[in-house]
Amino acid sequence: MKVLALGLVMSALFVGSAFAEGDAAAGANVFKKCASCHAVGEGAKNKVGPELNLLIGRVAGTAPEFKYSKAMTDAGAGGLVWSSETLHEFLTKPKDFVKGTKMSFPGLKEQADIDNLVAYLTTFSAPADGAAPAEPAAAPAAQ
Ligand code: HEC
Repeated sequence: MKVLALGLVMSALFVGSAFAEGDAAAGANVFKKCASCHAVGEGAKNKVGPELNLLIGRVAGTAPEFKYSKAMTDAGAGGLVWSSETLHEFLTKPKDFVKGTKMSFPGLKEQADIDNLVAYLTTFSAPADGAAPAEPAAAPAAQ
C-alpha cells in the first residue's frame, strides 16, 4: 500500500503516468505559442498571463501579484492544482476546463505538443534551492 501511495504522490507531482513522457526541447518550441503572454525561467515576470515557474504542483490562480479571473481563483480554491493531467485537460480547451477563464487561447490539438510542453515546464518546476515545488505562492481565497 505504501508503494501505491508513493506512486500516486509521485505522479501527482511529476509527469502523470497516463501520458507519454514529453521531450522538453520540443516543448520549448511549442512554448512559442504561449510566450506572447507567459514568461518562464529566471527572472520571469507576469505578462498578459502569469509567470509559469514552479507551475507543476502550484494551486491554480496563485502566482503572486497576478490579477486572475474569478473563474481561475475559484478553480484553485476548489482544489485545482497544476499537474500533467490537469495541464493536458486545460491546454486542450482552456475555456471548457476553466469556464470563464480570461486566457484567450483556443487550445492545442496535438496531445504530443502538450506532452512536450509539460516536459518543458517541468524543467522550471524543480526546486532551485530545496524549497518544495508544491508550495503555493499564496493561499487560495478562503471559501
Ligand atoms: C493571449 C494570451 C495567452 C496565451 C497565448 C496563453 N495564455 Fe495561459 N493564461 C493567460 C491568462 C490571461 C491567464 C490567466 C487566466 C485567468 O485568470 O482566468 C492564463 C493562465 C494560464 C495558466 C494558469 C496559471 C495559474 O497560475 O494558475 C496556465 C497553466 C497557462 N495559462 C498556460 C499556458 C500555456 C502552456 C500556453 C501556451 C500553450 C498559454 N497559457 C497561452 C493568457 C494566455
